[in-house]
Amino acid sequence: MTTLRPHGNLDGAALAQEIASRTWFHTFDLGDGVHTPGYDDTLTKLEHLHLPPDLKGQTVLDIGSYDGFFAFECEARGAERVMATDRWCWEWPGCDARRNFDWMRDILASKVEDRLVSVEELSPEAVDGTYDVVLFLGVLYHAPDPLGYLRRARAVTKGTLVVETLVDLLDVDVPAAAYYPGASMNNDASNHWGPNPAAVEGLLHDAGFGHVRRFDPWSSNPTWALYLDGNRPRRLSRRVRERLDKGPRSGRMVFHATPT
Ligand SMILES: C[S@@+](CC[C@H](N)C(=O)[O-])C[C@H]1O[C@@H](n2cnc3c(N)ncnc32)[C@H](O)[C@@H]1O
Repeated sequence: MTTLRPHGNLDGAALAQEIASRTWFHTFDLGDGVHTPGYDDTLTKLEHLHLPPDLKGQTVLDIGSYDGFFAFECEARGAERVMATDRWCWEWPGCDARRNFDWMRDILASKVEDRLVSVEELSPEAVDGTYDVVLFLGVLYHAPDPLGYLRRARAVTKGTLVVETLVDLLDVDVPAAAYYPGASMNNDASNHWGPNPAAVEGLLHDAGFGHVRRFDPWSSNPTWALYLDGNRPRRLSRRVRERLDKGPRSGRMVFHATPT
């Protein structure tokens, strides 16, 4: 991870005061012990993305950028051009995402560009070209139409699409996806599908990615996290032990997909 250093005149106390006045999704490390209290496990997610440490000369598109952490991180890794897009949370009344993104860009003296574009509206025209690295993080399970979303992501990818997603049905070894009616997943009606790894790979191939690499699943759920790390927690109830014996059912995964 790169520490993102603010420029300008804001001292630590002023930074802390401004940070405390907002709700944060992303956890930014601004150095000298100053963090944004994001409710997202951003730094763990970053570790699992397997992004190149050096992005010099690369162009990056961050689809569904929220507070913009990953866009600013790619800029800090030397990307030549970074474009951030979003629509949902940048337009939600009462959501701080858009003003957090603008404030971060300001204090970091960043050149990250932005477009107010939904995934449904994605095209090379809408984002001013195609990109070497396209980040599609935490978006796939929000798609009512996952194949359509990935096809639109394909249309703006000339290098690698990095997909980070919730995965479900890990115990099913044929391509399958869990459907979450209403708000049954995390009390959030925008969560639609939990694909398993074989389904994500199949969707990526059908969207026009010839080569797909998958990385190991992980979980923020402490019991699954221990299991996935190869540790068997002691003193579990019989019901939980029986469930664990069948293997973790859900988690998060990252896939790197390239057109050829
Ligand atoms: C769970 S957050 C992930 C944020 C960030 N990419 C990350 O991984 O930390 C989902 C993001 O996708 C955006 N999003 C989901 N569906 C979208 C759509 N159809 N059009 C535009 N943005 C969308 C939301 O606004 C939000 O920024």
